[in-house]
Amino acid sequence: MGRFNDGVSFKESVLDDVVRVESLVKSYSSAVGAVPVLRGLTLGFPRHRLTAVMGPSGSGKSTLLHCAAGLDRPTSGRVTLGGTDLGTASRRTLSRIHRRRIGFVFQSFNLLPMLTAAENIALPLRLAGQRPRHEHIAGLLDQIGLAGLAGRRPAGLSGGQQQRVAIARALAVKPDVVFADEPTGALDGVSSRQVLDLLRAAVDRYAQSVVMVTHDPVAASRADSVIFLVDGQVRDTLDHPTVEDVSARVGRWDR
Ligand SMILES: Nc1ncnc2c1ncn2[C@@H]1O[C@H](COP(=O)(O)OP(=O)(O)OP(=O)(O)O)[C@@H](O)[C@H]1O
Ligand SMILES: [Mg+2]
Repeated sequence: MGRFNDGVSFKESVLDDVVRVESLVKSYSSAVGAVPVLRGLTLGFPRHRLTAVMGPSGSGKSTLLHCAAGLDRPTSGRVTLGGTDLGTASRRTLSRIHRRRIGFVFQSFNLLPMLTAAENIALPLRLAGQRPRHEHIAGLLDQIGLAGLAGRRPAGLSGGQQQRVAIARALAVKPDVVFADEPTGALDGVSSRQVLDLLRAAVDRYAQSVVMVTHDPVAASRADSVIFLVDGQVRDTLDHPTVEDVSARVGRWDR
């Protein structure tokens, strides 16, 4: 199964996308009228894969992620998760989906400062009405290499450690998909690698689906495929990316 196998029909590969966007248009109003940011995107994010989204600053990467995650409504077109159209879903449906089926990771970690690492990770489970099991949280802390720091608050953790907590928090409810907007953008090389190792493990060992925006060809090369956006349209895609292939494509427009 999956779009990387030979002989998979188009229909099957479409069914295997965790989130699909079709003819997605997003415009913002300005003094000079509506300014289109996404100009009719049609694409799918494959299930059980790590997909990277790249493109110049202002090309619409964050806007795409926010629309695909149902954090922002499209101007027109469709965004579907399973059978649900996120663009037209009620607020109640959307908040249920955000509690259980979609995780989001930001460049700036966004942990709650008064809660410990363990409490931050457990929070989405509580919000989803579940009682967090100690072993589950301990297992997640272990996976992110912070078993000994369960009781630390964010201020006592490095940026890389905070980001790993944020990823564990996103994964805690076993969502259908995790969206990460430049998750390594604020990190040094070593911390970036640990965060990428973690996202890779989430996909390879725990069958999660992850979509990650990045400017870094090294980060993108850890993905299964890369989508290149320019001016709110897909300019190119690359499967099994290497750093060299990604850098060559980025070099054409990202300087
Ligand atoms: N809420 C908003 N209101 C008006 N314009 C917006 C809004 N959000 C984004 N834009 C505009 O949409 C365009 C795309 O923004 P977006 O944040 O999606 O780009 P990006 O590819 O994520 O860029 P970066 O790499 O700098 O993060 C930009 O021109 C931005 O100014
Ligand atoms: Mg952005």
